[in-house]
Amino acid sequence: MKTKLTLPLVLFFSIALAPASIFALPGDGISGTAHDFAGIGAVATGACTFCHTPHQAQTTALLWNHTLSTNNFTWDDPSTTGGTDYPTFAGDSYKGPTAKCLSCHDGSVAVGDIGWWNGGTPVGLLNFSLTGAMQTGVGGDMSGNHPVAMPYPIGGTANTYNGVTNGAPAVTSGWQSDPESLGIRLFNDDGSGNISAGSQSGQTGIECTSCHDPHNNAAVDVFLLLGTIGGTGTDYICSKCHNK
Ligand code: HEC
Ligand code: HEC
Ligand code: HEC
Ligand code: HEC
Repeated sequence: MKTKLTLPLVLFFSIALAPASIFALPGDGISGTAHDFAGIGAVATGACTFCHTPHQAQTTALLWNHTLSTNNFTWDDPSTTGGTDYPTFAGDSYKGPTAKCLSCHDGSVAVGDIGWWNGGTPVGLLNFSLTGAMQTGVGGDMSGNHPVAMPYPIGGTANTYNGVTNGAPAVTSGWQSDPESLGIRLFNDDGSGNISAGSQSGQTGIECTSCHDPHNNAAVDVFLLLGTIGGTGTDYICSKCHNK
């Protein structure tokens, strides 16, 4: 009896905040995931609109449509156990995809705060910000979060990415030599802050999208993850980069 009374309420709130995440399986594409904003609210936009636009984009890179966060992101400790400095980056100018994720996930900008759709700026779209566990880097404080915008010691050597170079202990500790072959997405920085997809010797790094696929195309488990949330083998998300 209790289940019958509470289930509709749970469903109501799930649908209000995260449209239909309960209906999509990992790898099945964006439709029905927590990132499917099409058809919700007063104005029914398309499935890409909350993140991308063909014209009037905030940045050419990724044709980004969502208003960027103006926070500067930092960690509380100066360096990792690998002797590597934690990075800093600005939400409205860093070119890695992490800044795009944080435009919603730092909780400073409303989910529906986008620049362009149907020939103008739509108003009244999903006028709430992310809260609780869905927030990462509140006010720019990334303390307690796995490093991102950070070099990956690919090839067993120190790489430089986003102005940060892997420390010596990071190079010698256990890493997968080819995480991309395990389904991980790596990025490279040309030294001028231009970031593109794919590893390149000496200039490879990781972003939010090294672990998550926002489109749920390559995702293999819950939370849009590129690896499994549990386990020990190389299906497990942590073991796709760390070889421990
Ligand atoms: C919740 C935000 C979000 C939504 C919704 C979204 N994308 Fe993306 N998209 C991103 C982010 C972030 C990246 C960067 C991913 C990366 O670099 O790993 C991206 C990358 C891309 C890329 C370039 C890299 C690639 O994966 O091919 C294309 C093309 C793309 N999106 C198309 C689309 C289309 C088409 C839709 C709608 C069907 C869509 N996206 C919906 C956030 C989104
Ligand atoms: C346009 C705003 C927006 C952008 C941009 C965005 N997200 Fe989200 N994301 C959301 C919302 C809204 C939810 C659902 C929140 C809830 O359930 O309360 C969500 C949920 C998630 C979840 C949980 C998924 C689940 O199934 O529970 C993950 C993981 C996630 N986002 C990662 C990312 C990553 C990584 C990026 C960048 C590649 C990104 N998001 C970009 C709005 C966004
Ligand atoms: C090193 C891999 C990795 C990176 C990088 C990463 N995540 Fe995650 N993320 C995970 C894992 C694993 C989970 C599941 C955590 C759990 O057990 O609840 C998760 C969960 C989430 C969730 C769901 C809520 C939660 O905390 O459980 C959101 C939202 C999210 N990540 C957003 C992001 C954003 C935004 C970024 C970039 C700033 C990011 N992630 C970078 C691995 C990663
Ligand atoms: C996409 C590759 C990748 C994945 C997947 C990944 N990591 Fe990492 N991890 C890194 C990189 C790169 C660093 C920083 C290396 C350095 O310090 O030079 C790092 C650093 C760390 C550190 C050291 C942090 C510190 O401050 O000393 C820990 C602990 C860690 N990761 C745990 C995890 C866990 C747990 C998971 C699974 C949820 C995970 N990692 C998944 C790439 C990854």
